[in-house]
Amino acid sequence: MPPPYEKHVFICTNRRPEGNPKGCCASKGAEEVRSLFKEELHKRGLKGRFRANAAGCLDMCAFGVTVVVYPEGVWYARVTKEDVVPIIEEHLLGGRPVERLLLENRRKEKAEEPPLEVTPPAA
Ligand code: FES
Repeated sequence: MPPPYEKHVFICTNRRPEGNPKGCCASKGAEEVRSLFKEELHKRGLKGRFRANAAGCLDMCAFGVTVVVYPEGVWYARVTKEDVVPIIEEHLLGGRPVERLLLENRRKEKAEEPPLEVTPPAA
């Protein structure tokens, strides 16, 4: 039996208490990202082909909002509302993952960030 959807988009909407050192995707706008995915898929008449679902923690909390698209297993990181339409148009419809949003590329950005300069306290 074929899968019911061509692609399945999982958006981490996990919420942790404020101050938790791991942070969470919910505090970075995950619920708005998920709602916008649903809204845009509906608006385009794509609800039968693609499905957007809330997910629990995908264990990439530092890179949230985290999104993964199956069946290909493409991971996106630091996704914002502005990224939803490009993911739908370029990836879901166009078949080309959005390079700049890929987790592997976002990780490199992080590694290339200059180290924090710490000013020693005045004596
Ligand atoms: S809270 Fe979203 S990946 Fe962990």
